[in-house]
Amino acid sequence: MKIAHNFNAGPCVLPREAVENTIEALKDYKGTGMSVIEVSHRSKEWEATMEECRSLWKEILNIPDGYKVLFLGGGASMQFLYVAMNLLEKRAGYLETGVWAKKALKEAKGFGDAFAVASSSDKNFNYIPKGYVIPSDLDYFHITTNNTIYGTEIHTDMDCPVNLVADMSSDIMSRPVDVSKYALIYGGAQKNVGPAGVTFVIIKEDILGKVSRFLPTMLDYRTHIGEDSMFNTPPVFSIYVMTETLKWVKKLGGLNAIYKMNKDKAALLYNEIDRNKMFEGTAAKEDRSLMNICFVMTPEFKDKEDAFMAFAKERGMVGIKGHRSVGGFRASCYNACPAESIQALVNCMQEFEKLNA
Ligand SMILES: Cc1ncc(COP(=O)(O)O)c(C=O)c1O
Repeated sequence: MKIAHNFNAGPCVLPREAVENTIEALKDYKGTGMSVIEVSHRSKEWEATMEECRSLWKEILNIPDGYKVLFLGGGASMQFLYVAMNLLEKRAGYLETGVWAKKALKEAKGFGDAFAVASSSDKNFNYIPKGYVIPSDLDYFHITTNNTIYGTEIHTDMDCPVNLVADMSSDIMSRPVDVSKYALIYGGAQKNVGPAGVTFVIIKEDILGKVSRFLPTMLDYRTHIGEDSMFNTPPVFSIYVMTETLKWVKKLGGLNAIYKMNKDKAALLYNEIDRNKMFEGTAAKEDRSLMNICFVMTPEFKDKEDAFMAFAKERGMVGIKGHRSVGGFRASCYNACPAESIQALVNCMQEFEKLNA
């Protein structure tokens, strides 16, 4: 069977083992004689899968007491709205590090005084702002820990004087996280934790119930907490694949092991980008993402971008075209992207250099 070197930004490569186990569950789920997409979400088998998924989240991320893990629909984009609706009473600050952060801020503006505390828009978001002061009267401060489009990442869990809210769509489960520093973490699953269709939310329960506005039932986090994410029919297929993906993370040794692998994989590609005279990275070095590695051709070889794209495609690389707002190339090296795929891309860059430089 042909397996592509899949560098898609999301949906993206998932652990082969999780995919194979899902194929089995699509045929017969836990010996029920039904497919996982045919069983009732109220069955004891399904409730056990939901519970397994929740406990894997808690165990792998070491989530402290007082937090709940929710599985919702609507994607991270819906969380832009949920967060503001449930938490914003007067003022909220956003770290404007890219398009996703801007979209989150735009939603919040509908609910109160939401503003950018700092921004890297002056350099097309190719760095993470530093040295800014977070006002202590904010209802919350919102960050995007990994900027999928620009390849920048906040590598540490910051101390924050107010509730810290993080969109971790594209780096969740890529490194250990001190969850206790966050009031709320959310993201779409479709990068490191599963297929599209399920959104994870990790929420400190005592931050809720502080806003005075009316909250529609479906848009109130407390509804989903009260019903263990089963207020309405959960996205069963996506949650199943997520459970299998988390089982794989645990089997590999958890987040310390995954983090080491991710650092090694990213170093392989960044070293080549820095060595090869035809390519250069676009993100500030200290803020380089381990997940989305963005690079372009140096000015001298700019006219060779299409040729390299075709060259890489012929050698099995998929999804390396950069986002239109950055251009060039982006290799998304999520947890399940094997080191062999990154090595194949590096080989491609070296061969191309030999032929063209
Ligand atoms: C950092 C980040 N936030 C939010 C989103 C939007 O996610 P969704 O498509 O699940 O709404 C994306 C999508 O790629 C993303 O990378």
